[in-house]
This record gives sequence, structure tokens and C-alpha cells, in this order.
Amino acid sequence: MTEAPEKGNKKMRKVDLRSDTVTRPTPAMRRAMAEAEVGDDVFGEDPTVNRLEALAAERLGKEAALFVASGTMGNLVSLLAHCGRGDEVLLGDRSHTFFYEQGGSAALGGVHPRSLPNQPDGTIDLRQVEEAVRPDNIHFPRTRLIVIENTHNRCSGRALTSEYMRGVGDIARRHALKIHVDGARIFNAAVALGVDASVLVSEADSVTFCLSKGLAAPVGSLVCGSRDFISEARRARKVVGGGMRQAGVLAAAGIVALEQMIDRLVEDHVNARRLAQRLKDTEGLSVDTGSVQTNIVYMDMTYKGRSSNDVAGQLAREGVLLLPTGPRQLRAVTNYHISQDDVAHAADLILKVAGG
Ligand SMILES: Cc1ncc(COP(=O)(O)O)c(C=O)c1O
Repeated sequence: MTEAPEKGNKKMRKVDLRSDTVTRPTPAMRRAMAEAEVGDDVFGEDPTVNRLEALAAERLGKEAALFVASGTMGNLVSLLAHCGRGDEVLLGDRSHTFFYEQGGSAALGGVHPRSLPNQPDGTIDLRQVEEAVRPDNIHFPRTRLIVIENTHNRCSGRALTSEYMRGVGDIARRHALKIHVDGARIFNAAVALGVDASVLVSEADSVTFCLSKGLAAPVGSLVCGSRDFISEARRARKVVGGGMRQAGVLAAAGIVALEQMIDRLVEDHVNARRLAQRLKDTEGLSVDTGSVQTNIVYMDMTYKGRSSNDVAGQLAREGVLLLPTGPRQLRAVTNYHISQDDVAHAADLILKVAGG
């Protein structure tokens, strides 16, 4: 909880549920940043970046890792490293890579995206994946890569299981394809499913995960994969301008994120379920409580007369921030700064403003 600008003379309570990206670095992160040993990372000489990359690779069960500026950059350099111009990538039509990354791999790398329907649980039907793989034919692009998102942001933050990933792996092996996992929130998936993150990505050739979301670091993501793949991704990072220098000041916060902030994600998941439970029987709102597995809650507004912007604006004036994600859809994401009490306060206000 934080304090918003004053309303009259009274301090207004502010509960920011727009995203887990609004999290601020913890005191331990700030200390680690201030004391970080640094060097020129483009020369491979930043000891703190090197330590973070080794730690990330170990946690994800991969040979090597690369520190990048953002999740978007992690996905972009992964696609550029896996695919050449004209190659085709299969990905979900609600995936972040397809929806929210400006089609970067097409714009910058000539990679051809083929979107397949995401099911409400974030998976793509495996039959449809297999049917989409192109036969060898002069008319067709070459299918190279399958992208899977876990947890799936636009599919209620659902966690995809290792059983599902095995099915994806079987298809990839049959057709000599690579798999990239956009695991921006892979540790939320691991905590929700009670399995190690490395197990969830064991079928993947590459994984991106973010430090700057639920793990509360200020900046940065990691790409993990084989040593050869990471060398290619490192080249791609350089050409998109992502070679950073004394980046150890950022990596230091990332090390704290990996060492101290994963186990507590369960608190965000419990709070998200609390919020969904409080809102579920509200007239004017529809919340699918069954779909809330991690830290994301979507609310669909059932009254035709009001837009989500309208409702979000009114809530914001009262100190509760939600993100409009469609003309009649709002999203709340619990995070490190949100207490059980904040959830109760936000739910009361949402019921007042958006409900009946
Ligand atoms: C699933 C997913 N992938 C990738 C990203 C991109 O991360 P960034 O904002 O660090 O570029 C996000 C951001 O919200 C995300 O939710």
C-alpha cells in the first residue's frame, strides 16, 4: 500500500493493481545495487552480471543465460536467434509475443508469425499445433519454432503444466522444431503448480523470464538456453542495441530477486484468489474464480452502459488502480506491495463503483 496525493486534507489510500511491473526494489535490492562490483558487460567483464547469468541458467536447468533489458527484448532476441528471414513461428493468438510486442520479430527479423487460437487455459490445442507445421513445399515458409507462454498473461495468468509441455516437446521432436517459452512469470507457474521451474521448461530450447514483475527487481529479464543458442542471442542483443556496460548495478537486484523473492509469490496468489472470491457474485461484474491460479484476476463488466476506461478512471480517483484490457474488461494483478487489507479495501471500492 502507498499513499496517493491528498484528497482534500485526508491522505487517500492508494492500491495499485494494474500490474506486477509496478513493484519497486526492496531495501535488500537497493543495498546490493549500491555495493555491486561492476565491469564492462559487453566485454563479458561484469562479475555481477556473470553471477546472475550463471544463477539463472542453473535455476532453469540450462547451460547458459543472457541478461537483457526487458521481457520483450528477451523474446525478440530468442526469435531472432532461432529463426532466419521467412521462417515461420507458431504462437498463440493471445500471447504477449503476438499481441503486445509490435510484431518485433517480423519488423526486425522478417520472421513470419502464424497465430493459433489460445484456449482459455493458455494452451494451444496440440492437434492444431501439429496440423500447422508446414510440409516441405516451395510455396510455404519453413516452420521453425513454437512459442508457449507460461504463465499466460491474457489467459487469466494460467499456469501450463509439464505434461502439456511434454506434448509440445513430442511435436517439436517429430518435426525438428525448436521451442521457446515466454516465461515472463515462470516462477509464478512453478509456485502455483508446486514444481521446479526447470521441470516446466525442460522441453524448451530457450526461455525468457522477467525479474521486474512479481520478483520486484527494477529492470531486466534473462534468456536461458544452450551455450550455442546464448551466443547467437548475445549477437542479436547487440544488434538491437541491448549491449549494456556496467549492468551489474541492475543484475545485483536480480540476484536478490532470485534468491529471496520466489517463495513469497504464493502470497500474491492467495491475495488474487481472495479478490476474485470477493468480486465473484457482484452484479455488473463477471469474474471466473476457477481460472485464478496465480496473481492475475480479470473482470468482465456485464453492464453495457459503461466502458472499462470509465470505471477504471472513477476507481483511480478513489485510489484503486486497475488496468483496462478491453472495452469492458479490467485486470487486477496482485504483487509484493499489496496486503490482504489492501485487497479487502480494493474489493469494497470495486463493488461500490463497478457493481450493481
Ligand atoms: C507474458 C509476458 N511476456 C513478456 C512481457 C514483456 O515484458 P517487458 O514489459 O519487460 O518487455 C510481458 C509484460 O508484461 C508479459 O506479460
